[in-house]
Amino acid sequence: MLAFDVAQYVTATRAVGRHYLDPELRGRMAELYVDLHAVLSAPDTVLGRGERRVLRLAELVLQNEWKLAVPSGAATPAPASLGMPSGPRGKRYQAYANVRLLNHVLGTRRRSSDASIEHRGRQTLRFLVRSWLKYEQCSAGGTETWGWQRPPTATEMEERLGRLSALSLETAAWPGMPRPGESPPARWEEYAGSPGRSDILQYLVNLPQTEQHEENAFLRVIHLTEVTTSVILARVLGAKTWLEAGRLPQAGGCLERAAELARMQLDVMRVLRRTMSVENFLSYRKETGDASAVQMTSSQALHIHLLGVHPRKVEALGGAAENAFLLLYLNDQFQPLRSLLHSVPCDTEEGAAVLRAAHALDETLYAWRRLHLGLAHRYLPKDSEGSGGTSGAPYLTGFYHDRLFDHEGQPFPHATPISAPPLGEWVRARSVFSPLN
Ligand code: HEM
Repeated sequence: MLAFDVAQYVTATRAVGRHYLDPELRGRMAELYVDLHAVLSAPDTVLGRGERRVLRLAELVLQNEWKLAVPSGAATPAPASLGMPSGPRGKRYQAYANVRLLNHVLGTRRRSSDASIEHRGRQTLRFLVRSWLKYEQCSAGGTETWGWQRPPTATEMEERLGRLSALSLETAAWPGMPRPGESPPARWEEYAGSPGRSDILQYLVNLPQTEQHEENAFLRVIHLTEVTTSVILARVLGAKTWLEAGRLPQAGGCLERAAELARMQLDVMRVLRRTMSVENFLSYRKETGDASAVQMTSSQALHIHLLGVHPRKVEALGGAAENAFLLLYLNDQFQPLRSLLHSVPCDTEEGAAVLRAAHALDETLYAWRRLHLGLAHRYLPKDSEGSGGTSGAPYLTGFYHDRLFDHEGQPFPHATPISAPPLGEWVRARSVFSPLN
């Protein structure tokens, strides 16, 4: 395990695209994952804190290759040649986008506070925006060494550079991170410490399936959206807790911060919409398989904490084992932000500030959902299903307009939840973030 050459893995993946990674290398990583998982979960394993930290990080990377080692599909048996256990490996989105590694950098896996998640989230966003800008600048200048197939046109590139420069300027005063190494470190321990977070972001998070430039950009949009969503979710959870305690100024502050990050999320999606051609998008879509952000736990959780479980999403949530636990929110006790807003007084300055911030958040997230629905219409062939197995654009049309406030600015009444369907066998119940900040 410790002799595994991480740098070689990164270089090999960048050279051909992850979809075309040597099956022997992937098979070896998948086997290492199975062994490591067994060791880490055995009750009699004795490890120092440092060792455990290194091995936990390695587990996150190896698990992704273990998931990708079988063809698309959650319950596909492992090829006999790999000599690994068969069974469900979960959906592919998390592995495709290396989401668990990103969450490791953000600290969401350690039940961090909302303030800590926001701090790390801003560090990460600043880093990722700069890294993307530099990648595009080098690509435009002809010095970039990977992801050079089917680049954007000169006009698209010019627009992209302008938009990314604006985002970089916006994040310039945010907290920074150490510079990553000039090349990927070879050993796990070099990624495990605090400075190693930059190397994780630079080398381990963005591993496209193909060598196509635009898939590389697409993944960067996904990562920026994941991070902004985690921060928004953390702050919405904070706001709910403060509202339940009757602390309006603190709740308003959390919602203002959430709204600020939502504006950035919208700007990030505009980079994709304005600068990626339909042809380029379609040319790498096949290799991403059935990885779909409908499996994006943070976004699904965010919308549930804002609005409750939408009846039209029940099937999609139940269909992804990673997200099925969210159906547990279909109960009378659960109060999304939408219900809590009903008791906020609009005739006090503090109450009005909460409602203003909630409006701003609602408006921006709604604009994002409209833009995203537009993407489904523009980029996907007519009447085609989504890669996540939903009906595609019609699925998104079913709920994109569900909001906190109606068009007169009044909070929508929260509908009585429908009863939860029976949950499948493989449901992982887990808290997303601790509300005990
Ligand atoms: C051209 C680009 C895109 C297209 C055509 C597209 C299309 C779709 C479609 C059809 C769905 C429905 C689920 C399914 O796959 O069956 C979906 C869901 C979703 N997509 Fe995208 N998408 C695009 C880019 C993105 C990006 C960059 C993100 C950022 C993470 C994203 C986030 C989401 C989310 C969060 C959902 C779940 C919606 C929900 O259930 O509330 N999409 N997308």
